[in-house]
Amino acid sequence: MSQVISQQIETAYREKFPTSAKLYERGVSLFPSGVTHDGRYLQPFPVYVEKALGSKKYDVDGSEIIDYWVGHGAMLLGHSHPAVVDAVQQQAARSTHPGACHELELIWGEWVRKLVPSAEQMRFTNSGTEATLMGLRVARIVSGKQKVIKFAGHFHGWHDLLTPGNEPPEEAGGYSLPGLTDGVVGDVVLVPTNDIEAVARAIDEHDPCCVIHEGNGMRWGVVPAEVEFLQQLRQLTRDKGVLFILDEVITGFRVAPGGYQEVCDIVPDMTTLAKVLAGGLPGGCLTGRADVLDALAFGNSHGQKMKHPGTYNGNPLSAAAGAAALEVVSTGEPCRQANAIAAKLRGELNALFQQKGIDWVAYGRFSAVKILPEYDGPRPDGDEFVPYGNDPARLDRKFPAALSHPLRCALLLGGVDWMGWAGSTTLAHSNDDVERTVSAFAGAIDLLRADGLVG
Ligand SMILES: Cc1ncc(COP(=O)(O)O)c(C=O)c1O
Repeated sequence: MSQVISQQIETAYREKFPTSAKLYERGVSLFPSGVTHDGRYLQPFPVYVEKALGSKKYDVDGSEIIDYWVGHGAMLLGHSHPAVVDAVQQQAARSTHPGACHELELIWGEWVRKLVPSAEQMRFTNSGTEATLMGLRVARIVSGKQKVIKFAGHFHGWHDLLTPGNEPPEEAGGYSLPGLTDGVVGDVVLVPTNDIEAVARAIDEHDPCCVIHEGNGMRWGVVPAEVEFLQQLRQLTRDKGVLFILDEVITGFRVAPGGYQEVCDIVPDMTTLAKVLAGGLPGGCLTGRADVLDALAFGNSHGQKMKHPGTYNGNPLSAAAGAAALEVVSTGEPCRQANAIAAKLRGELNALFQQKGIDWVAYGRFSAVKILPEYDGPRPDGDEFVPYGNDPARLDRKFPAALSHPLRCALLLGGVDWMGWAGSTTLAHSNDDVERTVSAFAGAIDLLRADGLVG
C-alpha cells in the first residue's frame, strides 16, 4: 500500500509512469516492499526501467531519464558501452560457466594488477560485500586477532561483520543493529572519521586484526577523507604492525584508474574492489600483498587456510565485461570525464540553489555529487568546498523520507533519476545532460514548494 507523498507531485507522477504503477503491484506481492534492493524503494512506486544506454535509462512508458544511479556506481563507462557489450555477447555464446579455470580470469586479474598499486595477488568474489567479508577473515587468520577497527558511518556492504556503524546514528539511540549477534557487534570498534589520534588510541586499546577504511570516506565521501589522513593512517598501521584494508569497492577504477590509493600515493596491505571492476556485471575481488593473500593458498605459510568456494567466482561473463571495461579505464579518460562533469554539475547546482533561494548546497569529490538540505553555513567558494568544515556530526545525517521521496519523484518528472541525496557521473554524461539536470532540479524545487515541502 502506498501513502500519499505530496498531492501535486504524486498526481503528475502517477500520470507519467502508469505502467510502472501496475508492475509495482506485482512487485509488492513478490518482494517485501516490492523491491530487490532497499535503495530502490520509492513511494508511491519506483519507476521500472526497460533499457539503458550511455547516460540515459528508458522506462517502461518510454520516457528518457538521465541516470545518476549508474548501476549503483558500477557503470563508469555509461550503460551498454560497446566494448563491454561486445565482450559479453561473444563470451555468452562460448560459455557462461564452465566450472573450470579459463584464460579470461587471467586477463581480468592482470588488468587489476596493472592498474591497482597494491595488487600483487587476488581472489575474485561475486560482490563488494563478499570482498570485505573475505578481507576481514584473511586479516584474522594472518594476525591471529579478532577485533576490527572501522570508521563510524563507513559502508562496507551488508554482511554482519562490518554492519555496525554503517549508517548515521539515530539521534538518541545510537546505531540500530537488528539481527546481529552481540558477539559480532562486540568485535567491531568504531572510531571517528578523520581522527588519527583516535585510531592510534583504539589500536593500543583493542589490539585489532586490521583497520578498514572506506575509499575516500564515509559512504562515497559524505564526509570526504583527506589525502593526508589516509597517508597518516597507512603510516600508523605500518608502525603499529596492524593490517590496513582500503575498501575501494566504489572508488576503485572510478576516482582514478588506480583508485584512491593512487590519488593518495599509498599502498594498503589489502584492497577490496567491485562495481567498475566487473564492467556492470556481478563481481568483486580482494587483492593485496602476496604474503597476506597466502592465507587463501593450500599448504600456506600461516598454517591455516581460509576456505574459499563460491559458484560464480571469476565467472567468464564477469571476467569478459571486467577486462573490457578495465582496458577502457586504463586510458584515464573515463575517470577524467566523470570527475570533470561532476564538478561542473556541482557548480551549476549551487548557482541554481542560490538563485532559487533554497537552503541546499551541492558538494563532493571526484564523480560524486552530494546535496545537503537545510544547510545554514557559508555558500561554497570553489569546488574544494565541504559544508560545515567537514564536520561528521553535521554531515552524517539521515534525511526525512517525507522530503526524499517527493524530491526523487519530482526529479523523475523532469527526466532525472537521482540517488536519494547524491548522484554519480560517468564517461557518458555530457554538458547537455548537466543543463537538463539543472532545469529538472529547478522544476523539482518549484513542485516541492507548491506542495509546501520546502521553504
Ligand atoms: C565502499 C563499499 N564497500 C562495499 C560495498 C558492497 O558492495 P556490493 O553492493 O557489491 O556488495 C559497497 C556498495 O555500495 C560500497 O560502496
